[in-house]
Amino acid sequence: MRKIIEKEFALNYLNKYGSQMTVGNGYLGVRGALEEEYPEQVRGMYVAGIYNRPSGSTSSELVNLPDVTRFQVMLDDEVFSMQAGKVHAYERYLDMNTGELIRKITWESSNGKHYQLNFYRFASKVAKHMIAAKVEITPLSENTRVKVKTGIDAQQTNFGTQQLAESSLRIFDEKLMVGEYETIESKQRITVATKVSEKGIFTAKNRQLMTDVEQKVTANQTFTLEKISLVKTSLDEVDTEFPNTTYAELKLTSEAAWQDFWAHASVRVESTNDFDQFALDFACYHLEIMTPKNDFRCSVGAKGLTGEGYKGHVFWDTEIFIMPFFLYNQPEIAKQLLQYRYLHLKEAKEKALKNGYKGALYPWESAFTGEEETPEFAAINIRTGTRQKVASAISEHHLVADIAYAVCEYEVATSDAQFMVEYGAELLLETAEFWISRATSRNGRLEILDVIGPDEYTEHIDNNTYTNYMAHYNVKKALEWNKENTDFEARAKIFLENLYLPVANESGLIPQDDTFLQKDWINLDKYKAAQGTQGILLDYSRQEVNELQILKQADLVMLFYLFPKMFKAEMVKENLRYYEERTIHDSSLSKAIHAIVENRVGNREQAYQFFQEACLIDLGSEPHSSDDGLHAASLGAIWLAVVFGFAGMDTSGELLEITPNLPNKWKSIAFEFVWKGEQITVKMMPNTLQLSKSTKTVLELNIYGEKQQLTDILTINLERKDESL
Ligand code: BGC
Repeated sequence: MRKIIEKEFALNYLNKYGSQMTVGNGYLGVRGALEEEYPEQVRGMYVAGIYNRPSGSTSSELVNLPDVTRFQVMLDDEVFSMQAGKVHAYERYLDMNTGELIRKITWESSNGKHYQLNFYRFASKVAKHMIAAKVEITPLSENTRVKVKTGIDAQQTNFGTQQLAESSLRIFDEKLMVGEYETIESKQRITVATKVSEKGIFTAKNRQLMTDVEQKVTANQTFTLEKISLVKTSLDEVDTEFPNTTYAELKLTSEAAWQDFWAHASVRVESTNDFDQFALDFACYHLEIMTPKNDFRCSVGAKGLTGEGYKGHVFWDTEIFIMPFFLYNQPEIAKQLLQYRYLHLKEAKEKALKNGYKGALYPWESAFTGEEETPEFAAINIRTGTRQKVASAISEHHLVADIAYAVCEYEVATSDAQFMVEYGAELLLETAEFWISRATSRNGRLEILDVIGPDEYTEHIDNNTYTNYMAHYNVKKALEWNKENTDFEARAKIFLENLYLPVANESGLIPQDDTFLQKDWINLDKYKAAQGTQGILLDYSRQEVNELQILKQADLVMLFYLFPKMFKAEMVKENLRYYEERTIHDSSLSKAIHAIVENRVGNREQAYQFFQEACLIDLGSEPHSSDDGLHAASLGAIWLAVVFGFAGMDTSGELLEITPNLPNKWKSIAFEFVWKGEQITVKMMPNTLQLSKSTKTVLELNIYGEKQQLTDILTINLERKDESL
């Protein structure tokens, strides 16, 4: 069915659905705001790469662009609003199969007249600059004077911050409205053009270029208004003319492109719980529309193009959580995401230098320029008036190795030697140089001091195990890819031999960092019950949290996830239990990763439980959790949990390994997986694994620990294996 459905209109959920029902295509995203205005409704349209740094701010923001989605509808002089009159029937859904958002309302006005109002909208998956909308109004009681006001509304702001100067407003041929704008600081030019299908009266006032269309509509006749809009910016390499097209024409090509996407990218799960399939489709749909295509100057923000959370900044979320979905479906997109990092090697080197290091230190938060964008201060404490400094830009350095890890992951999956020559080897070298300069000689070994690991509730600690192992891997891989660089080789070898890699203590526990295990522990039940809300910070100061064994998110468990063979299963199990008890999962990057690691150690029930909870991060009943955008990394991790968790794909060895371990509720799972340029169709049932591909080349695989060869079709009976689970 692939539909995101809103069954009834509720003000409290307006912005959550606004995020969920975003339409887009990676070039732009348009929030699913309703056509008419409601209190606190956040309307938003964003174009990848269009940021602006407001004066006095240290970070740029993904700009909320002039709006084309708003329609004010007047029916015999009464403004249509679902807060007035009576709603007799309501349905709204985003059809993920076609990318179209549809709303149908049977409404009775306050003076007792009945109407049918239907609204449609989509962003073309083919013509990336185009947004199409349609309104159908049918008076059901009597003839009605229908007035619709719509156009280009540049009163849009980022929560009050105006980012655009208006350069020009024009009408062409009594039809086409064109607004031109420029971002105030970054000087990007934006053009928004729109055309409605009926003649109206134009006005330009208060940053709004509008048309008023008025018509007498006979009872039971339908008045239809189409609106075709185009958005382009100075980042575009080719100019796009306003096309002469209709809603239906645009829809036809866009729909075909969606069909093609689902044919290859979908993961089909037969589960007794339909929600599993829905959550997966939701994740795939959003990953697809949040990710820029054919433009390596842009990457994916922490909320994609669905809202203004995290100001649209790019984090490690992209390489570790989002990129794999593309790597194993559309590897060229994964390459493009890595090229974005390569493009900003210069800024990363400048940041390293500025901080007294060598090599490349990527910004913790990045946007268009590749400079550090992390806000200097967190939100103000309104009781004390103080602001806490944000330490991530200064100390959260694991991102450097995360990017290097993604480069290696890409190389392993694609064997793209050209990429390594052009970008990969240098990226590995510069990131490795950073780690070599970042380490300190202490206690007769090299240590990495004063860092923040993935767990952001534990700051300024020494030898975060995740960071140290990742740095080690980064340098090791850099060495493999830069063999001719003898100068680097000497330094790299010293680093690799001397870097401290924490190991398990006598109780079998691997310390998260030098001091973690010595800290006190508190019962976290209350905070776990409200996970995602950061409620702990209301009861304890950050400083106090820092002195307790409290994790915001998977930390050591991230390392277990990324290196499935590095630690023995028993040890993983033990540490997983210990650290999970201390993890609130206040970050959305946590649950799905725990699901994967739980599944690997055989805790299938627990894994499924975590998977389902991860799916609820954006799809649960909590009304405001996704108001400022969806959790992009979490959506990527839902896909990971299925493909790398339950389906048991493992790319960390010489050969592709497959060790399925499906939840009891699942009868089958099927998906495509691109590996070394081969498109493999995978189908798993509890007792059978079926692999097929269309070429005749022989692919060696490791299935349940046994070498197998896949030519075109391979069917493996798993009954025997299943018994041991
Ligand atoms: C998490 C980070 C993450 C960021 C953006 C933070 O709350 O702790 O790991 O990168 O959100 O999603």
